[in-house]
Amino acid sequence: MESHLKTAIEIAREAGGLLLQHFRQPLEITYKRRSDLVTEADRKSETLIVERLRGYFPGHAIVAEEGGGQKTDSDYCWFVDPLDGTTNFAHGFPIFAVTLGLAYRGEVVAGVVYDPTRDELFTVERGAGAFLNGQRLRVSNNGDLAECLVATGFPPFASNHDLNVEFYFRFTQLTHGIRRAGSAALGLCSVAAGRFDGFWELKLNPWDKAAGTLLVAEAGGQVSGITGKPFNLLGDDIFASNGLVHDQMLRVFREVLERRGSVWPGR
Ligand code: IPD
Ligand code: CA
Ligand code: CA
Repeated sequence: MESHLKTAIEIAREAGGLLLQHFRQPLEITYKRRSDLVTEADRKSETLIVERLRGYFPGHAIVAEEGGGQKTDSDYCWFVDPLDGTTNFAHGFPIFAVTLGLAYRGEVVAGVVYDPTRDELFTVERGAGAFLNGQRLRVSNNGDLAECLVATGFPPFASNHDLNVEFYFRFTQLTHGIRRAGSAALGLCSVAAGRFDGFWELKLNPWDKAAGTLLVAEAGGQVSGITGKPFNLLGDDIFASNGLVHDQMLRVFREVLERRGSVWPGR
């Protein structure tokens, strides 16, 4: 397993370097859907990562955001986001990352998130802890929602923004504040590092959250869906916290859903 993580780190650093070379340079931007950008940096980073993974682990399956992966019948599957925070990147806002998560028989066992603008490398292996630049990570020990800093995100194409705006509104009233920085992977890393006390999103893909959720769990936090259902890598919603405020935050999600008369499908 160690060699999987070592290789993932090497690849994430190389891809992060490539992103930095393109950052704030003239970029070719195309749209997958309205407001859903993809830049040449996303594609180049993905090509590099997939080529490297294929070279090192030829039999492994790869699911990569821009479609460059490969299907195999291996028990190992890499989830790759070559640039998490594309909209930030395209606007020159320096919050973005490369992330790779490795699942074995559907369970995430290792992952890396690399933020090249801060040179912050988040690494994790199941059972062996979560680290930032080699230093062990621990979630915050804040047990009072009123003193929390929490975060969320709004995917460019989801239809449930109105619901998330209500969560956003309510948590703005109930906490120190809420951030929406534009990289789900880094949002989860911030929970693992004790910078945020909680993070949720209503629709995230597995490549956004594979590494980040394991980082939170290995840093002593809790991960579930927004109704408290067990975390599902292939599901939509995700809620991660320091564990101490998990129930308090679940109560807020529930109250908002009840007030709206909404039933959250969750998977
Ligand atoms: C997006 C970012 C954003 C989140 C979206 C993701 P991308 O990933 O993580 O913060 O709100 O849900 O799709 O498209 O920049 O890789
Ligand atoms: Ca992403
Ligand atoms: Ca991406």
